[in-house]
Amino acid sequence: ERTQVAIVGAGPAGLLLSHLLHRRGIASVVLESRSREYVEQRVRAGVLEQGTVDTLVEAGVGERLRREGLPHHGIELRYGGRGRRIAFEKLVPGRRITVYGQQEVVKDLIAARLADGGPIRFEVSGVAVHDLDSAAPSVTYTGPDGEPVRLECDVIAGCDGFHGVTRPSIPDGVLTVYEREYPFAWLGVLARVRPSAEELIYAQTERGFALHSMRSPEVSRFYLQVAPDENLADWPDERIWEELRARLETVPGFTLATGPVIEKGVTPMRSFVVEPMQYGRLYLAGDAAHIVPPTGAKGLNLAVADVRLLTEALVSWFSTGSAALLEGYSAACLKRVWRAQHFSWWMTTLLHTFDSDDAYGRRLQLAHLDYVTTSEAAATTLAENYVGLPYESDP
Ligand code: FAD
Ligand code: DHB
Repeated sequence: ERTQVAIVGAGPAGLLLSHLLHRRGIASVVLESRSREYVEQRVRAGVLEQGTVDTLVEAGVGERLRREGLPHHGIELRYGGRGRRIAFEKLVPGRRITVYGQQEVVKDLIAARLADGGPIRFEVSGVAVHDLDSAAPSVTYTGPDGEPVRLECDVIAGCDGFHGVTRPSIPDGVLTVYEREYPFAWLGVLARVRPSAEELIYAQTERGFALHSMRSPEVSRFYLQVAPDENLADWPDERIWEELRARLETVPGFTLATGPVIEKGVTPMRSFVVEPMQYGRLYLAGDAAHIVPPTGAKGLNLAVADVRLLTEALVSWFSTGSAALLEGYSAACLKRVWRAQHFSWWMTTLLHTFDSDDAYGRRLQLAHLDYVTTSEAAATTLAENYVGLPYESDP
């Protein structure tokens, strides 16, 4: 089998890349180890930057997103017995975020690819990439019925997430890793209950961080800061609600509505970047190249920004033979990647409880929160990063 671009991974990065390339006349094959049902049900991020929404709408996959996505014009920071709003409409006029589940984006992209006849091979195993430093790279894998396949291609896109195979296939000594681990994880909870607030609540408490988000008028999404090695079995639904109440019912008049828990899981928190994001004919995009702690809601949005740049670079190379954009791909991505790294680390330290903090450290955190929520300059820093800075190529 042969294609122009072999894409490993059918997450948001791989699927969007395949779709954007198709619209520009470039063929690709997407290889995914999980089943279609699995990737469509996997609950993850939910906050889309304006630029991400615009990218999906312009690419013709934003119809349901426009109908069902929830536009938000602010968030609340809750701490010290009160809530303070970061008002996007005032601080960053005309910019907003949209709450729409990542798995809904994935469903929309899969539907579009399949409608266009785009090959997505689900449930493949043993994916391996070969001859990355040659002009004729290839990918081998085992199909769902056990048949061995070699896919020849011009380039390979590594969109297989943090635990994928493409990044580890780059020879030793090529990549520099920048990394930080955090001494906590997030317990994510999806519940069939109406949201208890109209906007997202980021809560800092002495018991740890809590986030109240949502998916629809009937479904709420919550996160709790927990120990890094937290055992899900220790979190029956009653304990989840009890802890969410303790961390969120901290301001007068706020009551948390509760309901059946639909899904729960523990996500470790890390910051991670590899440089460069490419080697020979392999280009990494999204979580395969970088991870942020989720507090800034940047992971999915960064994947989209990478894919926009990779699409333009590939279109330029296939249509004119010029490799200039491809050669500059990693450098072009990394500017936004590092801005998001800083913002995500900053939001994480602003809002989480660090056991290592002494009394002085806790006072500093409160001073930081007071400043961010009362100074227009500081609040604007949060707001402009949260809604998403313009793409480099924007005017
Ligand atoms: P992924 O979505 O990870 O997609 C990679 C795909 O590659 C997957 O479908 C995987 O099955 C496939 N794959 C992996 N290895 C192979 C292989 N060897 N062969 C073939 N296919 C392979 N971000 C937020 O902003 N907020 C959140 O709340 C949030 N929660 C998260 C929870 C979890 C558990 C995780 C892992 C991430 C979370 N993120 C969150 C981050 C956000 O979801 C990611 O940044 C986003 O999914 C990146 O998209 P991607 O396409 O690069 O990678
Ligand atoms: C959601 C996830 C985040 O990481 C975040 O910062 C805000 C919202 C969510 O899943 O809804």
